[in-house]
Formats: sequence, C-alpha cells, structure tokens
Amino acid sequence: MKLKHTLTITTLATLLIILYHVNSNKSSDDVENYEEPLFNTTNLAKSNKIFNLDLKYIQNSSTCAQNESFLAIIVITSYFGHVELRSAIRRAFSEKTLAHMGLKRVFLLGEAPSDKYTKQESIVNENRRFNDIIQGNFIEAYRNLTYKHLMGLKWATDHCKAQFLIKMDDDIVVNLRAVVDILKNTKFPQKLLAGYIFKGMKPIRLKANKWYVTEEEYKYNNYPAFISGWFYITNIKTGQHLVLLSNYYKYFWIDDLFVTGIVANSLKIRHYDLSKYFTVNPEFLECCIRDVKKKLSCDIMVGPNGGDNNLFFKFNEALSFCYDNNCKNRIKSLNDTCISEYKVNLGRGEGVIQNYKIK
Ligand SMILES: *[C@@H]1O[C@H](CO)[C@@H](O)[C@H](O)[C@H]1NC(C)=O
Ligand SMILES: *[C@@H]1O[C@H](CO)[C@@H](O)[C@H](O)[C@H]1NC(C)=O
Ligand SMILES: *[C@@H]1O[C@H](CO)[C@@H](O)[C@H](O)[C@H]1NC(C)=O
Ligand SMILES: *[C@@H]1O[C@H](CO)[C@@H](O)[C@H](O)[C@H]1NC(C)=O
Ligand SMILES: *[C@@H]1O[C@H](CO)[C@@H](O)[C@H](O)[C@H]1NC(C)=O
Ligand SMILES: *[C@@H]1O[C@H](CO)[C@@H](O)[C@H](O)[C@H]1NC(C)=O
Repeated sequence: MKLKHTLTITTLATLLIILYHVNSNKSSDDVENYEEPLFNTTNLAKSNKIFNLDLKYIQNSSTCAQNESFLAIIVITSYFGHVELRSAIRRAFSEKTLAHMGLKRVFLLGEAPSDKYTKQESIVNENRRFNDIIQGNFIEAYRNLTYKHLMGLKWATDHCKAQFLIKMDDDIVVNLRAVVDILKNTKFPQKLLAGYIFKGMKPIRLKANKWYVTEEEYKYNNYPAFISGWFYITNIKTGQHLVLLSNYYKYFWIDDLFVTGIVANSLKIRHYDLSKYFTVNPEFLECCIRDVKKKLSCDIMVGPNGGDNNLFFKFNEALSFCYDNNCKNRIKSLNDTCISEYKVNLGRGEGVIQNYKIK
C-alpha cells in the first residue's frame, strides 16, 4: 500500500518533470529562434510608405542620432494640442533623468491645421526647445491613429539602438522606475509584445457606437487577441517586422488591435501578460500617491489619468519616495482600501461600473 503510494508519487513527479521540460523547451525555442515572417521583407525595408501614405517627418528629433545602445526608447502617441500632457511627462522625467535610467523618449504627432488653440509654430518651438517631437504628414484624427502608431514603431526601429521599444499614450500614467525594474529583471521572449491582453472581443456592429466597425472594414466575427495601446513593451526586431508586415494588410483604424493583434498574428507572437500591473481606475493612482506617505509601495504601474493632465507628474514624483526609502508591501490590495463608486471606460466601448470606496 505504502510502496504503491510512493510509486504513484514518483510517477507523478516524473510526469511533472517531463511536462516541465516540454514546456520549457517551448519557451526556450521562443528565446533562441526568432521565427522570420513568412514574407520576404527585404524589398520593403527601405520603403517610406505606410499603406497609401508617403510618410514624411514634418518635425524630427536627433534623440536617437548617437550610435550607442540603451535600454528603451519610449514612443508616446500624443494629440497635437496636448501641450499640457507633454509638459507633465517632461517635468516628471527630463531628458537627462531619462538618460540616467537608460531611456529616451519622443512624442508622436500628426498635423492639425484647423486646431483653434495650438498652432504649428508652437509645435515647431516646442520641438526646438525639447527636440523630442516626431510629426508625420497626416491629419490628426481618430481613424488615422494607425498611421501614427506605425510611424512610431517605424521611426524608433529605423533610428534607435535600443534593447526595448515602449509604446504608450499621452493620457496614460506610467511608473517609469517600475518599468525599468521589469525590463532589467524579466527574461522576455525575443518575439515580444507585453502588456494588457484583450481576448475574445468582437466587432461592434451598432452604428451609434464609438467602436462601430463595418463588415467592409473587418469582415470576421471575432477579433484576435491583442495588447492595449495604452502601454506595451516590444523590441526593435519585433517592431520592425510589425511595420514591414503591416503593409500586407488592409488599413484598419483601431490601431492597437491592428498592430498587436491582426499583424502580430502572422508573426505568431505569444502575448506576454502584464495585466496585473494595470488598473482602469485613476482613483487607484491617487490612493497610491496618498499611501506613499504611509510608506506603502504601489503595485500599480499603468493607469489612465482620468482627465488630470498633471497626474503623470504627481504619481511619479510621489512614488520616487519609495526608491530612496524602504516602502512596505501593502497587505490589503487597493481593491479593498480604495473603493468608491466610479464609472470607468476600458477604452473599448464597454463601460465598467465598479464599486470601490475612497477611505
Ligand atoms: C527540445 O529541444 C531540443 C533541442 O532544441 C530537441 O532536440 C528536443 O527534441 C526538444 N524536446 C521536445 C520535447 O520538444
Ligand atoms: C529577399 O529578397 C532579397 C532582394 O530581392 C534577396 O536578396 C533575398 O535573398 C531574399 N530573401 C529570401 C529569404 O528569399
Ligand atoms: C530624423 O532624425 C534622425 C536622427 O534621430 C536622422 O537619422 C534622420 O535622417 C532624420 N530624418 C529626416 C527625414 O530628417
Ligand atoms: C555603430 O556602431 C556599430 C558597432 O556598435 C558599428 O558596427 C557601426 O559601423 C556604427 N555605425 C556608425 C554609423 O557609426
Ligand atoms: C488622415 O490623414 C490623411 C492624410 O493627411 C487625410 O487625408 C485624411 O483626411 C485623414 N483622415 C481623417 C479621418 O481625417
Ligand atoms: C481588483 O478588482 C478587479 C475587478 O473587480 C479584479 O479584476 C482584480 O483582479 C482585483 N485585483 C486584486 C489585486 O485583487
């Protein structure tokens, strides 16, 4: 009886070891053998086309002009007129501070000749002062975001010798010190798309919806899994292949879905899940800021600014305290301590009502 028991356990352990090996083989495959795309991308390599657009940089930056390798280039999708948001992001981390962290940053803009408040001259001045604006020759529009997204990947992969490429939006708050820790301490696969994964989404066929998609634009009933464009991590090689392959597809305006879902599919990228670091509640970021005073660390790295243009600055400024002092891990999650009634929008047309209380 006892022997049998031992045997079973041994068998089980062996099985587990075998399973582990099969699995680990899989992941090491991912790391060692980057699978080239099915297409021959050589001919497209020098192209400046993004679909029908002959891409030109109306504003450019010499940020990546030095021929030296660094940790990560951050490309930030930013609306032409979002001067305040860019300012908060720059105040949180100057170019010099970023350089110490191994980071570089550019903002991705389009053209907006009809913007009443911001004029092209002020963008030119802004870039003269900060040298961090990449402006493409397309009109700022929701349905032009795929141009902007691809321009960011293209510019960074053409010019920057970085280990990683980070794409984010200008209204998203990110704890950049935490990002650097993750970049340095994670063994990411070579085919890399890491972030918040959306799975099982379907095209919305209701005309009134912001995310309404016609059968012509997308004919299938399901979307592939994709990574939220709020914030994601990739690398130069993956980014290059995404840009080159995108030209084999029809333009689709939901940019993150297109790039990290539809195009990524043909590269057979396994999305790397970082969703535990994300929140959809800007209030959670505010709670983190307050809790830092009690020397509590923040387990959230990415969240929306909820309309507060300065939250990126406030959040990073507050959390820098924990890098000079020892903060304790929180025992109770933010879910338990930071609750009120708040309506949030996941950004995909599905409003989420969550109950949480503010202490
Ligand atoms: C694991 O990888 C090695 C070498 O890459 C290969 O010889 C072996 O067959 C693989 N094992 C499995 C279970 O796939
Ligand atoms: C891809 O195309 C280039 C230029 O036409 C050619 O030199 C190269 O050998 C091709 N590569 C493959 C893998 O077919
Ligand atoms: C943009 O700037 C990069 C340096 O970061 C430079 O290599 C490139 O030639 C410039 N492109 C244009 C179109 O001016
Ligand atoms: C950049 O550096 C690499 C080695 O790190 C070298 O092979 C290459 O020629 C350099 N390129 C330029 C333009 O200096
Ligand atoms: C996108 O940009 C192109 C090129 O500037 C422009 O012709 C087009 O009208 C823009 N799309 C929208 C929806 O504004
Ligand atoms: C917090 O709540 C959200 C939604 O109710 C849930 O998805 C998430 O897993 C929770 N996080 C923790 C750390 O409990």
